[in-house]
Amino acid sequence: MKRLIASIGLALVAGSALAGGIPDSITTTKGETLTVPESIKKCMTCHLVGTTPWKPVFAGPQLNGAFGRPAGTFEGFSYGDDLKKGGWNWDEAHLTQWISKTTGGAKKAIQTFSGNPLAKTKMSFPGLNSEAEVQEVINFLKKL
Ligand code: HEC
Repeated sequence: MKRLIASIGLALVAGSALAGGIPDSITTTKGETLTVPESIKKCMTCHLVGTTPWKPVFAGPQLNGAFGRPAGTFEGFSYGDDLKKGGWNWDEAHLTQWISKTTGGAKKAIQTFSGNPLAKTKMSFPGLNSEAEVQEVINFLKKL
């Protein structure tokens, strides 16, 4: 019984999303096996990538095919009101602004993209510090 309680505890610590923790490699839906860089692991606490079917336990939408996708359109995810309205595609420029701490991350980006200074996003991630990390994440997303 003690052991059972301990393993339930561990599963909770590992995060609501990936019960087994964040993997070091994933298989893309195109069948390619990719090593997961540390930078994208920061996204994977909330976002799923790879072949595991998405479930609503993930805080954020599935990121397979997110590169080039119209904003706010992953079926089954309950977006915040401002992202749901969308109006842009996730190209290099939009993604860079969305995940760069230096430009204010998603919090500032949603206001710029929507043209509404009061717009908000449910993505509470402050952004990545270095340009190299941002580029690494975007290059990874392009392969998914
Ligand atoms: C703390 C959890 C969390 C982290 C960490 C996080 N995100 Fe998000 N992300 C979200 C949530 C929640 C949303 C939905 C926001 C909304 O609906 O306003 C989102 C939305 C997005 C979207 C929009 C997708 C769409 O379908 O329009 C992209 C792109 C994105 N995140 C990329 C990233 C990347 C890349 C990283 C890592 C650098 C990252 N996120 C880190 C929670 C997170």
